[in-house]
Amino acid sequence: MKKLFKQTIALFSFTILLVNAHAQDGQALFKAKCNTCHLLDKVSTGPMLKGVKQKWTDAGEGDQLIDWVTNSTALIASGKSTMADAIKGFSPMEMPGQQVTKEELDAILTFVDNPPVAAPTVETTGATTDSAAEVVLKPNYKENLNTFYWLLCSIVIMLIVIFILSSSIINLVKSDYFTNKIAEKKNKENGNIFKVLILIITFGLMATGNTTLAMSIPEPSTDPQPWILIENADIYFLITINIVLVLVIIYLQSQFKRLLALVYERKRKEKEVKALKKLNKVLTDVVPIEEEHTILMHHEYDGIRELDNNLPPWWVWGFALTIVSGIIYLFYYHVFGGDLQYQAYEKEMRKADTEVKAYLSKMSMNVDETSATLMKDAADLSKGKALFETNCVTCHNPKGEGNIGPNLTDKNWIYGFDIKDVFKTVKNGTPNGMPEHNSKFNPVQIQQVASFVLSLPDAKGKAAQGEILEK
Ligand code: HEC
Ligand code: HEC
Repeated sequence: MKKLFKQTIALFSFTILLVNAHAQDGQALFKAKCNTCHLLDKVSTGPMLKGVKQKWTDAGEGDQLIDWVTNSTALIASGKSTMADAIKGFSPMEMPGQQVTKEELDAILTFVDNPPVAAPTVETTGATTDSAAEVVLKPNYKENLNTFYWLLCSIVIMLIVIFILSSSIINLVKSDYFTNKIAEKKNKENGNIFKVLILIITFGLMATGNTTLAMSIPEPSTDPQPWILIENADIYFLITINIVLVLVIIYLQSQFKRLLALVYERKRKEKEVKALKKLNKVLTDVVPIEEEHTILMHHEYDGIRELDNNLPPWWVWGFALTIVSGIIYLFYYHVFGGDLQYQAYEKEMRKADTEVKAYLSKMSMNVDETSATLMKDAADLSKGKALFETNCVTCHNPKGEGNIGPNLTDKNWIYGFDIKDVFKTVKNGTPNGMPEHNSKFNPVQIQQVASFVLSLPDAKGKAAQGEILEK
């Protein structure tokens, strides 16, 4: 049993390996042979290749694909293939014959139909991968849901508080005791109370209205379907509601107190005095002047005497705090190895460095046909050369002397010889068969390859084309 299990595993992983190798082969071959003219899922110089196998197979010409790829001209001429006839006028240029075997073609087309998910577009060989990767920030729905529940809870609680507050205010206002008291006072207060009352009653009514609303919010736990996907905006909305409710509660509470104060005025005064005393005790802990004689010290210098006051509590607590924080500091930095000044500084500098680099590399990507400059640096030119060799030689030949495309080394140009012109030609392509490279290269790469083209020495090849003459 165990053996069988092991064998199955081995077989399984072997199959995976095989499939993988196959897929990788296809990718490499596609990159090397087809990517100059074909993109996976977009029309380029040639049509897009995704689904092409299916198309030809559906037409009953699946086996002729290999003939097309190795020699499309012959297949068209033979007249055997309707698919070849259908596609032949797609581009002014013909697809040059490719040296691939049937297996290789299968690998390529398998890759084309199922590109690996991690790398949806094929990166051009020789491409530097320094384009800044963009990180897409998705809201953390799980965390949002938690926050959402908390906010919802607090809304419900606050609505209950509002309900209780407003109903007690209403009850208080309605009570005979209160009306009698007010009637006694009415002469003094002169109607101001009425404004307060109206406000309270409207708020009370509103709050009771709100409570019914709150009850109709679906209970999160009883809903079996995860009605999740709480966006950040929803959270902000709930927070706003919470804040509004807090304000309402504060308002109601102050009104409630005010009403109470109308009835129990004396009590309030007493309370205030008590509170003041407490505050004084916490802040300064001084002995009141009337009792100062109890703490007067016995010595006297030229009539100056001293009180034996306690140290102000805020100061004592502050002092204790410094001791505690001193101990924490000691352990954090000198025992457990927190970052000391220099380390923190260096960390910050390193971080800033990477940020600066990322910024500069982003800025350097900021070239286009209006700002391109001729690169003369050997490193850039050699990168340009590598790009040229993998992407341009099919049509312009290794020395740039021209094949399907014109000679790039002579003095005649169709679209101009300035670096900006060449940049534009390479980037956007042209109507008569020069493919665009904007989707394959980043701007710096276009600048590198264009600079390399302009550095090419004269090479005898295709006859001169173009009216624009370089001196
Ligand atoms: C130099 C450019 C170039 C290269 C390289 C190239 N193709 Fe093509 N391919 C074309 C063009 C152009 C067409 C359209 C035919 C036409 O316009 O005559 C085409 C058409 C095709 C078609 C037919 C598409 C359809 O919809 O019927 C297939 C399949 C194909 N190419 C496969 C490949 C494969 C596989 C490779 C690599 C091994 C490859 N091509 C390399 C230019 C190219
Ligand atoms: C599929 C074939 C093909 C590929 C691949 C190709 N070119 Fe071209 N290129 C052409 C054709 C065809 C023209 C002429 C276009 C026209 O007349 O509109 C051309 C024109 C040009 C021109 C304009 C020449 C002039 O006289 O103004 C430049 C520059 C150029 N290509 C550079 C490149 C570079 C650099 C690459 C590689 C990154 C490249 N090409 C890849 C086919 C190709």
